[in-house]
Amino acid sequence: MSTRGSAEPFDFDGDYGGDYEYIARTVIPGYLSTFRQALALLRGRVGPGPRVLVVGAGTGIELVTFKTAEPAWRLTGVDPSRQMIEIARHRIREAGMEAGVEPGVEAGVEAGVGAGVGAAVRLVHGHVSDVEEEGFDAATCFNVMHFLPDDGAKQSLLRDIARRLAPGAPFLLFELHGDRSGPRFDELFSAWSRYWEIHGMGEAARAAFRAKIDEGIHWASEARILELLAGAGFEDAWRYYRALLYGGWISRRAR
Ligand SMILES: C[S@@+](CC[C@H](N)C(=O)[O-])C[C@H]1O[C@@H](n2cnc3c(N)ncnc32)[C@H](O)[C@@H]1O
Repeated sequence: MSTRGSAEPFDFDGDYGGDYEYIARTVIPGYLSTFRQALALLRGRVGPGPRVLVVGAGTGIELVTFKTAEPAWRLTGVDPSRQMIEIARHRIREAGMEAGVEPGVEAGVEAGVGAGVGAAVRLVHGHVSDVEEEGFDAATCFNVMHFLPDDGAKQSLLRDIARRLAPGAPFLLFELHGDRSGPRFDELFSAWSRYWEIHGMGEAARAAFRAKIDEGIHWASEARILELLAGAGFEDAWRYYRALLYGGWISRRAR
């Protein structure tokens, strides 16, 4: 997935990015709850004042959920989409928090926005590989990896995250998953599309969203996700959440 050209099915720098949170609330079962579950799991695994890396910061919903509940947590959100970084920055400031943006992919674009280091919530405009710090105490990656092909891109993302974590640090991964040739995939997919309808998505919007899914989601089975996590240096991975085709896994960086 490119996060820039508007010809992409999921153009986070275009209309899709602007509408993203409305769509997410419509199609992701328990969307808001997933961040509170993450908070609950992380609270049990981190010490005071942890440095937490939020990969694919999107609209800033995770950052604001975490920071509101845990003001002492030191948060860094990273996202390659300039539009999403701007939406996140706006949302963080609306919540009464200071957001500093650091340039990443397009160095200089954010010049004048403010220094990220020292801000209450730090935003890095770029990829995980642009985050210079290491030794984070925890990381999350919600609704990101399913956009990446399994041609090395999924594995690289997880490796880049693992490299930035302290040994033993928890990592939460949440995304669409499924074995397309497996016995339950079609039933789950049909139920998922009925869920969109139940949440008020009209017929034309459902057809358009289905076309985006067909083109832009790179499905991986749970077995493959566990293999990718192990290949990136995460251990003790297990699924803590499942709703239709969405799953959440908790693991920790190998010591
Ligand atoms: C579907 S949104 C998820 C946002 C938020 N985590 C949530 O669950 O609502 C995906 C976000 O990941 C970002 N993204 C895409 N590719 C990425 C990558 N390789 N590394 C980090 N973020 C990426 C997109 O720009 C977008 O903001």
